[in-house]
Amino acid sequence: MYAFTADPARPKPELYRELLATADALTSGEPDAVANMANLAALIFQLVPELNWAGFYRLVDGELVLGPFCGKPACIRIPLGQGVCGIAAATAKTQLVADVHAFPGHIACDADSRAELVVPVARGGDVIAVIDLDSPRTARFDAEDAAGVEALAALVSARI
Ligand code: SME
Repeated sequence: MYAFTADPARPKPELYRELLATADALTSGEPDAVANMANLAALIFQLVPELNWAGFYRLVDGELVLGPFCGKPACIRIPLGQGVCGIAAATAKTQLVADVHAFPGHIACDADSRAELVVPVARGGDVIAVIDLDSPRTARFDAEDAAGVEALAALVSARI
């Protein structure tokens, strides 16, 4: 059984070490991409503090399509280059947004969201998905969060 308590006071290096180790244990040897994304979304949502949404959008036929997630129901399809997720996928670059209301083109799925971190997942040089984290706290994410989720993306890119 995996059970966690999100602790905002926990040092981020320790938090992301545990996230990676547990993600590895949960997905190692399991070939089903949906099962792996579902467990990863649940893991992120449980372990990382101050989130209201965590999950995947997959690149399918040239657009992002909602994948497994935790949080409120979200928009299903996002064109490349639109919203924070579409820009992350189109540029293959992590998007760290302190205040989504100040981000032109942000797509609001949950009115509680204030800060957003979107990390592309690449395989063989191509973006195949993005990992999206939303927080109700402005400026919730920093470079340590981005590095931690980028390490997670690298770990799981062959498993989703
Ligand atoms: N805010 C995102 C859309 C996805 S939801 O946050 C779950 C965006 O602007 O791409």
